[in-house]
Amino acid sequence: MSIIDDEGGSNTSGNEHFQDIASAHLSRRGFLTSGFAAAAAVSLGGVEALLQAVPAAAKEMEEEDDTDSAVESRGDRQPMLGFEGVPVSSADEIVVPKGYTAEVLIAWGDPVSSGPTFKQDASNTADEQARQWGMHNDGVVYFPISGSRRGLIVQNNEYTDDGLLFTDGVSNWTPEKTKKSLNAHGISIIEVARRTGFHFDLRGSRGKGKWDVVRPSRFARRITGMTPIEIGGPAAGDPRLVTSEDSTGRRVLGTLNNCAMGFTPWGTYLACEENFNGYFRKDGPQTTLEKRYGITAAGFGYLWHTTDKRFRVDEEPNEPNRFGWVVEMDPFRPHSTPVKRTALGRLKHEGAWVQEARNGKVVVYMGDDERNEYIYRYVSNLPWRQARAQGINPLDDGILSVAQFHTDGTGEWLPLTPDNPRLAGWSLNDIFINTRGAADAVGATMMDRPEWIDTFPKDLTAIATLTNNSRRGTTPPSVTNPDGSTAAGSARPPVDAVNPRTINNYGHIIRWYNRQDWTEPTFGWDIFALCGDPANSAHGSTIAGDKYGSPDGIYVDPSGLLWIQTDVSTSTINAGAYAGFGNNQMLAAHPETKETRRFLVGPNQCEITGVFMTPDRRTMFVGIQHPGERPDDQPGDPLNPKRFSSWPDGPNGGRPRSALIVVTKDDGGKIGS
Ligand code: FEO
Ligand code: CA
Ligand code: CA
Repeated sequence: MSIIDDEGGSNTSGNEHFQDIASAHLSRRGFLTSGFAAAAAVSLGGVEALLQAVPAAAKEMEEEDDTDSAVESRGDRQPMLGFEGVPVSSADEIVVPKGYTAEVLIAWGDPVSSGPTFKQDASNTADEQARQWGMHNDGVVYFPISGSRRGLIVQNNEYTDDGLLFTDGVSNWTPEKTKKSLNAHGISIIEVARRTGFHFDLRGSRGKGKWDVVRPSRFARRITGMTPIEIGGPAAGDPRLVTSEDSTGRRVLGTLNNCAMGFTPWGTYLACEENFNGYFRKDGPQTTLEKRYGITAAGFGYLWHTTDKRFRVDEEPNEPNRFGWVVEMDPFRPHSTPVKRTALGRLKHEGAWVQEARNGKVVVYMGDDERNEYIYRYVSNLPWRQARAQGINPLDDGILSVAQFHTDGTGEWLPLTPDNPRLAGWSLNDIFINTRGAADAVGATMMDRPEWIDTFPKDLTAIATLTNNSRRGTTPPSVTNPDGSTAAGSARPPVDAVNPRTINNYGHIIRWYNRQDWTEPTFGWDIFALCGDPANSAHGSTIAGDKYGSPDGIYVDPSGLLWIQTDVSTSTINAGAYAGFGNNQMLAAHPETKETRRFLVGPNQCEITGVFMTPDRRTMFVGIQHPGERPDDQPGDPLNPKRFSSWPDGPNGGRPRSALIVVTKDDGGKIGS
């Protein structure tokens, strides 16, 4: 095994130290049980109160996984990739390996509890939408109630296609349409259970039985673009967060563009606000801050500003400052108010992956998903249990840093604090509200669109996807202005060691390693894979196995197996550089050998995003987002909504729908085995 193969000649000196560390981590335990710590964090730290009520189920869950570890440690385990890979597909359906079944659990517009059913002509009202599964689901987490048989699903609803959201699309726009579109954004929470017979069977029969949404459920909930949300942490109450509707700067309506996610050891869910800028319109001259975050006159085409002045920045200049945060919510307290955690910085948050450090602090890894943006790390000042015992939320009190990758295979976390000499004159709130500008100033490394991040807990290793970057290495070269004034994404940085390809069409996956703990100021890094078709030498791909590109979602499952989801943009699916790649897909990769095998292909024009397993690994939840989206970036055509896809409802449906699917193995076995 060599973990430095992908480095080529760029990582040849000075980094043996870190490579040795990484090799030691890898060989010591072979990634085989690492993810269980993360799963256990959900079940044990996560829902303390709840699990006290179901100790038998929790115990059984642990026993199941203990069994796995015992088998694996004897060395007579099954190979990690035990399934037969599937070919590329451009069929309007879900493709999974032989012996597996994929079923829709819930789709846009289905009621989250007892509530209004979906109308196939999209004529549900705004109020009905507020009680239904949101549109375009993304990051997802399963929170166990009874181990792997009953739990809560929390999933983000990233954005809407307003052409498909309404019977007549975006024509004749009204306040009711703005409200429905806002209500189709946010977060959806449902209770799910696996049924084996005539009733929900808590005893279960290992892995078998259909999953259903529990209706009614006291936990079921929608959080939308209209839900009151508290602004917490150091920037709460800052004058730049005050609006005409909120003189306190501490209360905002809604969360928007929630992409990937995270979860905490204390059992809460983190929803991450990504492309929040696209809902706002600014006709007057842009401020430096607006320019840096992409607040423009055109927005992304949403029409909310025509009926709601919150989105007219000329009238409400501070409203955009109330978005771009990580939002914490407690799925087990359905009446609790979510909180935007400002100490995690303001950026286009792809996700917020939480890793408990050995010293008890929490580390949060976050990507800012735009070309030439950065990777961030937050470290709590106190061990999380100690902080909570003192009434401090561990996400409100810590140090935010940004990554600088060196060419020798090392890197460092540059603190974004007022005592950093390169941030002289910046207040803490200046840094939190203009995190991108602060990162520019300290000299962070521009990356090829940082997306999801996950960890191999016992290996002290993190892994991150970089989707692509059409501007890397193009001319004329330019880099981000250190004064933070560069328009988002407009830089044209030269290639560097960690982003080594000119016009990076296919993206890549990187890892970084720590020595003793996650909180260290420095790290070693390498490239896990340069994506593309390994059979086409022009692509320069280092994938060991099935081709893919534009990696986005990434997930280390409870066995340590790596799952990779792709987000080739709808304009490029199976076309241009992606001809022959088929529809967006999900693959499994062995973390040690890097062998990569295609596990799932989605329906037409969709993105695969969001994946989580039950602790027993016998159920996998996967998000299918925006099937049937138009390739020209325009809203869907309400006169011909099924032009590109009719998934999942087929001939009986009125339009394609994003959905959460459940993948199980027909013999009740573990997914991927
Ligand atoms: Fe919402 Fe970066 O994808
Ligand atoms: Ca994404
Ligand atoms: Ca994406």
